[in-house]
Amino acid sequence: MTGPVDVLTDRLRRALGAAFGPEHAATDPVLRPSQFADFQANVALALAKRLGSNPRVVAEAIVEHLDVADVCLAPAVSGPGFVNLTLRGDWLAEQSTALAGDPRLGVPVEEPQVVPVDYSAPNVAKEMHVGHLRTTVVGDALARTLEHLGHHVVRQNHIGDWGTPFGMLIEHLLDVGEDSEDAKLLASDPNAFYQAARAEFDADAPSASGEGFADRARRRVVALQAGDPDTLRLWQELIDLSTAYFNSIYTALGVTLSDADLAGESTYNHELPGICEELEAAGIATMSEGALCVFLDGYTGREGKPVPLIIRKSDGGYGYATTDLATIRHRVRDLHADRILYVIGAPQHLHLQMVFETARRAGWLPDHVEVVHVQIGNVLGSDGKILKTRSGAPVRLRSLLEEAVERAAAMLAEARPEIPEADRALIARQVGIGAVKYADLSVAHDSEYTFDLERMVSQTGNTAPYLQYAAARIRSILRRAGSTPDAAIVQTEEAERDLMLELLRFGDVVAGVGSSLEPHRLCTYLFDLAQTFTAFYDRCPVLKAPEPAVRDSRLRLCAVTLAVLEQGLALLGISTPERM
Ligand code: ARG
Repeated sequence: MTGPVDVLTDRLRRALGAAFGPEHAATDPVLRPSQFADFQANVALALAKRLGSNPRVVAEAIVEHLDVADVCLAPAVSGPGFVNLTLRGDWLAEQSTALAGDPRLGVPVEEPQVVPVDYSAPNVAKEMHVGHLRTTVVGDALARTLEHLGHHVVRQNHIGDWGTPFGMLIEHLLDVGEDSEDAKLLASDPNAFYQAARAEFDADAPSASGEGFADRARRRVVALQAGDPDTLRLWQELIDLSTAYFNSIYTALGVTLSDADLAGESTYNHELPGICEELEAAGIATMSEGALCVFLDGYTGREGKPVPLIIRKSDGGYGYATTDLATIRHRVRDLHADRILYVIGAPQHLHLQMVFETARRAGWLPDHVEVVHVQIGNVLGSDGKILKTRSGAPVRLRSLLEEAVERAAAMLAEARPEIPEADRALIARQVGIGAVKYADLSVAHDSEYTFDLERMVSQTGNTAPYLQYAAARIRSILRRAGSTPDAAIVQTEEAERDLMLELLRFGDVVAGVGSSLEPHRLCTYLFDLAQTFTAFYDRCPVLKAPEPAVRDSRLRLCAVTLAVLEQGLALLGISTPERM
């Protein structure tokens, strides 16, 4: 299946070729919806400039060679040289009937690429914050969408599982006891564990042997780096407890990440010395003030001072940059990536640009491999600052998700008291979680937005509950009808036509999300679709349609709309309740 835009683009290209020669057939006609026609093609203007001729004359020539009689009413030139295209009702109806029978709902299967997607990446023994929530939700939507488009997605959860704090954390684990309730906190309330460890470090009380905690912690880091088996076992225990915590959040969110996708910082430990050696030997890295650094043209800080990418610190330790260089090499060399996505906070943009450029210079990132930083904007509180609780503590993700579910439950209890309580609890979960995820997805991923639960769970506006409600309403219509006949879709009213046009855009929109990596485009589309459906339902009686063929056609339109809403929400990782 190809949508109207594809069909018209193809016909326009052929007309360009026929009128001006094959070298112009590749010119990309821009098709925009307009108030005068279904689409307005803007192609003559740019072409006229290139040919040194009048845009209206060029537009006339295009129209003359345009073979669209089966698809459109007579095309017309308008304005300075636009081509107005209005689709034929019978063509739309036929396409919509085909869409209704297409299990992919018009979504293309693309030439498969291997696409590692780096997202979520929380830190061991620490609470996940709203920033991690957003990369998790956006990354997961992109992974699902790319997979649906036929790509081979390799999820990479680059958890922070290495570094000097592990000395302190391991010693604290030993002090509270590996099987103690305090240790189990890691799997439920990691910050409490982390802070207790920190407090112990700061108090620095001597143990029975007389050695202070801080010294023990430092010795433990050395043992960890040296690969001491007992230390590694304790470290693995910390990871396992933290992973249980991450997984509890992933399950609550309905995110597709599993243990198989873990590829934490520590995975790359053994490669770091080699990376440094190779970069130094190639003359890409140089020693500066005891540290091994990469300096790149154009990366300067205050007073024009060059900003270094530090790959080995003066104490011999490796940092975040070195591990990220290793991720690129691994994803290209071992995973055979065609396109790599780093779904990471916008403040890390400079870091990633420098990492990407260093990798290109080192030959680890060939030109044919595309690497993208999908920038995640900050989530703000109502005061316009990074989201915090009133007491200034970071907001606990779990309580935030619970509050969303509670609000959804309260709303349902009021609106639909007749639904049995157990069912309502399930729906409240779908709505509350869907609401939080949709808020992350419906704004451009790189823009900041204000976290506002009230607005997120509202059933009006561009929210998940609004879309879920629209879907549930269609379900109820279909339930009342009993069955959906495989009838041909016909057009009798303008509102049906509008709905068909909207439905036929779905495939294009999903493909657009795959190429632009912007899930908010799908959100906007689904919101438009739900509104168009409402207008259709207001104007066109379905169950009480004037005649059986029209009733069956409208039922089928309802069914496709539901399928598109469900599929669209599923690509965003949001489920659709049976009723609401
Ligand atoms: N763990 C980091 C953080 O919490 C994010 C890591 C992102 N991924 C990466 N490959 N650098 O900020």
